[in-house]
Amino acid sequence: MNWNDCVERHNTHSVKWSFSDEEIIPMCIADMDFQVSEAITEAMKDKAKHGIYGYTTFSERYFHNIQMWWEKRHGLKVDKEWISFSPGIIPGMNILLGILTEPGDGVIVQDPVYYPFYSTIENHGCTVMKNTLTYEEGIYSMDFEDLESKAKDPKTKVLILCSPHNPVGRVWTRQELERVAEICLEHDVWVISDEMHGDLVFEGTVHHPIFSIDEKLQQRSILCAAPSKTFNIAGLQTSILMIPNKELRETYEAKLLSFGLSRPNAFGVEGTIAAYEQGEPWLNDLLMYLEENLRFAVNYLKENIPSVKPVVPEATHLIWLDCSDLGMEHEELFEFFLVEAKIKFDEGYKFGPSGSKFVRMNIACPRERLNLALRRMDEAVLRKRVEDRASSV
Ligand SMILES: Cc1ncc(COP(=O)(O)O)c(C=O)c1O
Repeated sequence: MNWNDCVERHNTHSVKWSFSDEEIIPMCIADMDFQVSEAITEAMKDKAKHGIYGYTTFSERYFHNIQMWWEKRHGLKVDKEWISFSPGIIPGMNILLGILTEPGDGVIVQDPVYYPFYSTIENHGCTVMKNTLTYEEGIYSMDFEDLESKAKDPKTKVLILCSPHNPVGRVWTRQELERVAEICLEHDVWVISDEMHGDLVFEGTVHHPIFSIDEKLQQRSILCAAPSKTFNIAGLQTSILMIPNKELRETYEAKLLSFGLSRPNAFGVEGTIAAYEQGEPWLNDLLMYLEENLRFAVNYLKENIPSVKPVVPEATHLIWLDCSDLGMEHEELFEFFLVEAKIKFDEGYKFGPSGSKFVRMNIACPRERLNLALRRMDEAVLRKRVEDRASSV
């Protein structure tokens, strides 16, 4: 696999690459500009050649590979029965919140956080309860005192945990997760643990699945997983919800059926099997390339653009950039990079008010493109500084 190949993505119906100005570099949306592993491509070809794409179901091989993957990569023994399907994490979360909450209930999120969580909560007439992460000296951590006070509220029913965290890139430690478990168990709060970035963890850091934290929590939590981020197959729309609680699982699956969503995509099942069965060497290579991209970007920013401070992630292919020193926020900040540097980032303010002086940069691209984007940022920031100086005299 040549990670340096710049594969053309314009005119391929890619969300990330569909916009009118072809000069813009999209560093937004959490998918990668890398081709998938050979094993997945071959599985897609075999399915395509078969030529029949009728209603599809799951097989023993599908379940077995999910179980093997979680045991091998994360040391978690997964019962086959726990594994439910969803075409995506967000649709699955929507169904879960429909079951676990009533309108008017509270759902906790730890902002700044992946923003579709907000609409998912609001879709059910629930209140978003922000347990804002603490940000000190470039490091994010959880505010447990605030979490406990929110969890105590009898209206609070669920915590949506983002683990690892998008966009701040934290991989929560066992101690942090134990405290979360303690608080949620004590106050009867369900935990929906979104672990879809759990495989994209850098050297020296360990991802702890929520089920490995406290056995008691297994009956009060749901683990959301997917091969989509790990193997760059989000368009195959095949995600996994692990639900050990039998009653909840049966209710979830009945709802899924009632919405007509219980059948997987014919290519998605093949892609998932190929990814988990044969994709590990590709993933290991990817992680090395991403880590080099991360080092490259962080060094570049430190040396050349000190007014843009990266929050160095422990996981994900995303860097949360602290742009407070640029003196802009909200739309203005996003527009500055879009217009002046021709780079499309994800708007920090969408992740919550605490993100208004940030943008999110996706570094899952060939290094040449990353380098070009950083140079464009550098030039835009320099021009701004010159203009600011000129207007102040
Ligand atoms: C933390 C997190 N959860 C969920 C999603 C979306 O998942 P899906 O496309 O399966 O709904 C993303 C996508 O970026 C994400 O980062």
